[in-house]
Amino acid sequence: MARHLITSAIPYINGIKHLGNLVGSQLPADLFARYLRGRGHEVMFLCATDEHGTPAELAAAKAGKPVAEYCAEMHAVQAKLADGFRLSFDHFGRSSSEQNRRLTQAFAKALDEAGLIREVSETQMYSPTDGRYLPDRYIEGTCPNCGFDSARGDQCDNCTKQLDPVDLINPRSVISGATDLQMRDTKHLYLRQSALKDELEQWIDTREGWPVLTTSIAKKWLNDGDGLQDRGITRDLDWGVPVQRGDEPWPGMEGKVFYVWFDAPIEYIACAQEWVDAGKGTDWERWWRTDKGAGDVTYTQFMGKDNVPFHTLSFPVTILGSGEPWKLVDYIKSFNYLNYDGGQFSTSRGRGVFMDQALDILPSDYWRWWLLSHAPESSDAEFTWENFQASVNKDLADVLGNFVSRVTKFCRSKFGEVVPEGGAYGAKEEAVIAELGARLKTYEAHMDAIEVRKAAAELRAIWVAGNEYLQDAAPWSVFKEDEAAAAAIIRFSLNLIRLYAVLSEPFIPDASDTLKAAMKVTDAGWPDDIGGALSALPAGHGFEVPENLFRKIADEEREDWQARFAGVRD
Ligand code: MF3
Ligand code: ZN
Repeated sequence: MARHLITSAIPYINGIKHLGNLVGSQLPADLFARYLRGRGHEVMFLCATDEHGTPAELAAAKAGKPVAEYCAEMHAVQAKLADGFRLSFDHFGRSSSEQNRRLTQAFAKALDEAGLIREVSETQMYSPTDGRYLPDRYIEGTCPNCGFDSARGDQCDNCTKQLDPVDLINPRSVISGATDLQMRDTKHLYLRQSALKDELEQWIDTREGWPVLTTSIAKKWLNDGDGLQDRGITRDLDWGVPVQRGDEPWPGMEGKVFYVWFDAPIEYIACAQEWVDAGKGTDWERWWRTDKGAGDVTYTQFMGKDNVPFHTLSFPVTILGSGEPWKLVDYIKSFNYLNYDGGQFSTSRGRGVFMDQALDILPSDYWRWWLLSHAPESSDAEFTWENFQASVNKDLADVLGNFVSRVTKFCRSKFGEVVPEGGAYGAKEEAVIAELGARLKTYEAHMDAIEVRKAAAELRAIWVAGNEYLQDAAPWSVFKEDEAAAAAIIRFSLNLIRLYAVLSEPFIPDASDTLKAAMKVTDAGWPDDIGGALSALPAGHGFEVPENLFRKIADEEREDWQARFAGVRD
């Protein structure tokens, strides 16, 4: 049994996330957490809302609410939706927590003591129309790197380059649209990232087996000459972690807060403290401090590709630079984008399907299955309603659902709701055992490597093998000649259902629960050996025919949804 720390990029507080956000970090992280728990490992799975910075302030202003109140409300909404999608976080924290405030201020102090912070007088965009400074997302303009015309002040969404608002060409205020911006002098703290370039490069170069998507983005910004420039970590905003040196004031920095991208990843750690303070556990340091037992923890992070620079460069600088024995990430799994029906999902434009809307239409397993089996791993992927309908109807209803329904109903009508006796398994069953033994190894290998699509395809193949076996063994015909032989086929098939409940749990946890309940399974451990697993339910074991596991999506419904989600949400 190993110990695994898993974090998902923490979603911005500004509104309900769309399915593209979900599949880019939280959902695959949940898949991995469930799989590792299923295999008997000790798992700490953390996520939180990212509540500071301009996205939060802008969204609260739009909602006409004080920002703290807005964040508290939206955190509750996001937590409820996370439950709805069965995201099995050990804790869903908040970056605005006291724990994170203290820890962020402590990191700033440690970095300062290590000589890695300097004060810089800099020019910042000031908007006379808005009567305030305009940091980060308060400004949009044309990206100096790629020419994208809606680059934000902190990062270009098109080419992922981290930006400074003063870099933008034709900058405009996001609040008022004003373009009469002035440059004004103000003082800020800079993190001397450049001083850690060699250490960071060496760390990245020695990461084995990292996905190309992750390392190529990291190396690009590291070696471009401008990727590891010193970075401003404070802002002229009201909302955020107040700039302090640990418990002490920071002279000259009064009224300023830390930059959201400085405190947000620190919340990964603070979240474990919140977990303890919420009474869910007792020792957070054994997950995070290598001097307190975290030396044997494997730490995996999940995120969309736009987050990679912050996790391969900025956050490791915070950790390494502190000189303290914090746990560094072992593996970064990053995702491309999921597009929506010929365009992009967009929160700001309300385009696509959002988490609340998805659950209003269908239960979470339908979405989990489609999203995970089409995860944007090697390239961007696209959601279309036709593809969604086809996958649900075929994989879930025709393959898995139909198998369960045929086996349990046939058994009930011929033998009653109890596993029938029959004789020993024969050649057909042995062949399935051999095939599934090999497929299980492949499935595990893909899951261990977090190859999400490949794992889904293998799981589907495992379901298909049962269907083909049933079709071939044809207990309904055998029954007419030889009841005992038909009983053995059904005994084997009911055991396959139990096995499917166990192996499918990371992808479709609700269906897995339904199947376990129907099969009256209490000891559903991960199988070591398929032969043994397929004899786990003995003759005489009672079961119940489950409710229809998955329903099919009709053409009219699909057309209706397609029309309903063609526009933008208000
Ligand atoms: N809120 C960011 C996003 O949605 C992710 C922050 S991840 C963390 O893109 F590292 F800052 F925690
Ligand atoms: Zn760009």
